Amino acid sequence: MNYRIAVIKGDGIGPEIVNEAIRVLDRVAEQYGHTFEYREILMGGASIDVYGVPLTDEALEVAKSSDAVLMGAIGGDTNTSPWYQLPPSLRPEAALLRIRKELGLFANIRPAYLYEELKQACPLRDEIIGMGFDMVVMRELTGGLYFGERGTERREDGTRVSHDSLVYDENEIRRIAIRGFDVAMKRRKKVTSVDKANVLDSSRLWRAVVNEVAADYPEVELEHMLVDNCAMQLVRDPKQFDVILTENMFGDILSDEASMVTGSIGMLSSASLNEGKLGLYEPSHGSAPDIAGQDKANPIATILSAAMLLRYSFDLDREADAVEAAVKQVLKDGYRTVDIMSPGCTLVGTAEMGRQILERIER
Ligand code: IPM
Ligand code: MG
Repeated sequence: MNYRIAVIKGDGIGPEIVNEAIRVLDRVAEQYGHTFEYREILMGGASIDVYGVPLTDEALEVAKSSDAVLMGAIGGDTNTSPWYQLPPSLRPEAALLRIRKELGLFANIRPAYLYEELKQACPLRDEIIGMGFDMVVMRELTGGLYFGERGTERREDGTRVSHDSLVYDENEIRRIAIRGFDVAMKRRKKVTSVDKANVLDSSRLWRAVVNEVAADYPEVELEHMLVDNCAMQLVRDPKQFDVILTENMFGDILSDEASMVTGSIGMLSSASLNEGKLGLYEPSHGSAPDIAGQDKANPIATILSAAMLLRYSFDLDREADAVEAAVKQVLKDGYRTVDIMSPGCTLVGTAEMGRQILERIER
């Protein structure tokens, strides 16, 4: 089969980690007889530097007409990069919001998984870790505060005042809830829906619609949890979670927390899906401008994102399994980038880590 993949290398460590993911995809293509056609587009700071805007209409069209989008990371140091002197609508992050909206990528899946081999990197105590944990944060990605009406004005007396509105209609809630329950059906069949229903109307609607959807999934255990409690439970007892289903802003915060408690943010992938098969795949971590170009970055999150791409956009489950198995094997064999290094292991750079993984991809 022939597949078209739009590639956004992005900023900071983005190009280095995406290059390794492409090498892995090429090995998959070779072994399984597929053709992947890569179409590189600029987004974020890299696009600002060339075109003065973080995403051009042409680049967006290429993404829209592809079968999937593979992304590194975008953005720079907000304190020092000139990109952050620009008005908010021209900064790197604006491109990310635009591509999410224009591609209809409402469903963001972020697995947070404790790797047996990396247990010592987990910041939690042994008795909390227990037998490990394995959850996914299912985050609504195209609604809520991120896309509500906003503005800054001056009152008549000169006081500056800003507002951001949090709006959800029931259809937006229903479609992400359905995705969340579908994912739960393939896992341990538990959904924790997270909201702030003791304060927010949008959360009360969220809870009502999630309950309606739950009626179609009698096998799935549903619980509702307030977001502040969830933030606490994630460090108190992460084992209790299977699928965390939540709105955009809460999901932004909780997915960072969930990935941090695994101790290996350099390992975690992220998929943002639309109603159909199109998805954007990226590591959960950022562009790490401080180590860019030094062959230090961990490419595993991006390589695992490429595995998710194979699974969700192309339905190539065997190929995705092969990539994930190769990553596990490399960890078993003791190869580590600096972020996950521990005594007795072999320290490798970005490119060498990529090579070790692709050599272990087997048919
Ligand atoms: C993320 C990021 C983005 C978000 C930023 C860069 C706009 O934090 O993907 O989680 O808030 O969604
Ligand atoms: Mg975030």
